[in-house]
Amino acid sequence: MTNNPTITELSHEDRTFPPPEEFAANANATAEEYDKAAADRIGYWEEQAKRITWDTPFDTVLDWSDKPNAQWYVGGKLNAAYNCVDRHVENGLGDRVAYYFEGESGDTRTITYSDLLREVSKAANALTELGVKTGDRVAIYMPMIPETVFAMLACARLGAPHTVIFGGFSASAIADRVKDCGVEFVITSDGGYRKGKPSGLKSVVDEAMVDCPEVRNVLVVRRTGQDVDWKEGRDLWWHDVVDRQSETHTPEAFDSEHPLYIMYSSGTTGKPKGILHTTGGYLVGTSFTHWTVFDIKPESDVYWTAADIGWVTGHSYIVYGPLANATTSVLYEGTPDTPHRGRWWEIVEKYKVSILYCAPTAIRSFMKWGRDIPAKFDLSSLRLLGSVGEPINPEAWMWYREHIGGGRCPVVDTWWQTENGSILISPLPGVTSTKPGSAMRPLPGIVADVFDDEGRSVEPGNGGYLVIKEPWPSMLRTLWGDEERFEKTYWSQYPEVYFAGDGAKIDRDGDFWVLGRVDDVLNVSGHRMSTAEIESALVAHPKVAEAAVVGARDEMTGQAIEAFVILRESAADGGDDVVSELRSHVRSSIGPIATPRSIMLVPDLPKTRSGKIMRRLLKDVAENREVGDVTTLADSSVMDLIQKGIAES
Ligand code: WTA
Repeated sequence: MTNNPTITELSHEDRTFPPPEEFAANANATAEEYDKAAADRIGYWEEQAKRITWDTPFDTVLDWSDKPNAQWYVGGKLNAAYNCVDRHVENGLGDRVAYYFEGESGDTRTITYSDLLREVSKAANALTELGVKTGDRVAIYMPMIPETVFAMLACARLGAPHTVIFGGFSASAIADRVKDCGVEFVITSDGGYRKGKPSGLKSVVDEAMVDCPEVRNVLVVRRTGQDVDWKEGRDLWWHDVVDRQSETHTPEAFDSEHPLYIMYSSGTTGKPKGILHTTGGYLVGTSFTHWTVFDIKPESDVYWTAADIGWVTGHSYIVYGPLANATTSVLYEGTPDTPHRGRWWEIVEKYKVSILYCAPTAIRSFMKWGRDIPAKFDLSSLRLLGSVGEPINPEAWMWYREHIGGGRCPVVDTWWQTENGSILISPLPGVTSTKPGSAMRPLPGIVADVFDDEGRSVEPGNGGYLVIKEPWPSMLRTLWGDEERFEKTYWSQYPEVYFAGDGAKIDRDGDFWVLGRVDDVLNVSGHRMSTAEIESALVAHPKVAEAAVVGARDEMTGQAIEAFVILRESAADGGDDVVSELRSHVRSSIGPIATPRSIMLVPDLPKTRSGKIMRRLLKDVAENREVGDVTTLADSSVMDLIQKGIAES
């Protein structure tokens, strides 16, 4: 099995799968969309904005005069929560199910749009009572339960940007984020269920709060009933404060460019970037893509994004996109193998899920567990399958199509990033003949290309850097508090063009193949991790003198974290104990997802004469390859020493 296939491997892929006739005949999006958008891109985005209910209509679709700071739907006013909830109830859809919630241990809740309106209104009233005002940032650190959605929408309703922190992050990661965007209000729960056991979340928040004295209140949802520490005056139970609130709340309309949320993501330096999304453009982008890429028929589909709300995929395709389109979704708390390896397929069968969206890493696990497991369940309700988060290797794509989709469901491999807000490159399921492993074409309205170093479009068949040449509605607006880094990271490589940080190729037919990051960002099971962040965690340990981290190919997770560490002399013969100590140190500094697959203790690191670590050579070692060109090393014997040390260990 190959991951992140090389350019040579890819150019041999010539299997294509046209959309099934019946699917094409009923599809939301037709091939004409491409022509319409190409003929009048701005007009196309103006048209898409009709999916949203505007309190005050916008007067200008795009203001791109202050590059790279785009403004979309200028002058328009709207409320995101009203668009996701109230208007559907007003339109007579109050009894439609918004979420089928399935807890890991099998407890369930069915939440209709009327229920959602009531819960979100109560939560908004509670936040108001506690002093949360428009513009205040609210951190949310929660498991995958309905209250997470209520909390996000309550914030949106008040115009208080939320920053959802993935439940696997550590106390120090929470503290960094809380401090970076000046959060004074945190919403969490006692814990959630993971792998059959209650996990602790409030306890992690408590630890983070030691560093965050400016946080006034922590609102705590009771999920597991476990014992928690309590700080009087600061901590409040959700059920004490929210349950007694009025069930009605009048939403206020905010400017189209009012901040909706901040999502932190790893970059090439140790400090995570606070990616800012605003209201109007984001909602247009998520509802448009959810409609066209997933071919949503809200009256009949049951849609399931099997991702965590703590990442952008959850924000855009569990919360905002599906709700804006009045969709019925599944919300599942747990992992795919608890209590058994058929859990996902049991859920598909139970709720008659028709559209499933997940990451290749999950598909590769299912492949490993074997086709017999999904074969035991009735998956005939499925009609469309999506993939996101990392390159999908053709073997996994084919397996997904055959063994989950029964050979009849189109597979859409969707490329996008936290910064993009919504899908940018993907097949249209009723239009595109797909190729296993290719994200195919930029969506209508999106102008993408692959550039060489000089900013020229590469010839078909060649590789280069993926860029987006025109602004799009759901693009990030800035990095919170760091406009300079925003401009440098995305807009400095090529003038007025968005640099994605991914390598890509356009094949002879004009189809895109995204090959993976070209910077020091790793992609582990579809999660973005920064080498610099893990290196800083390692060198913060008293026994470590220096550290270098690389991503090595891994059959299951796409990439795996490999660390090379030079110990301080005082700790030099630490042996295995040091390695496990360092592993748990990284776990507790960042979170379990950042734990290195292995840590190699080395006498030295390969550096250029200017002192830059040559990660390329370490990657060769980690991937068991012959080490490449060492002529630019300051000391070329270093690699021999490293390899000798590893062979002996
Ligand atoms: C990678 C997740 C290949 C890519 C929505 C990107 C992909 C990073 C794909 C963004 C795909 C995402 N094919 N690579 N279909 N989708 N990626 O911000 O390297 O967590 O830059 O957003 O994931 O990860 P992020």
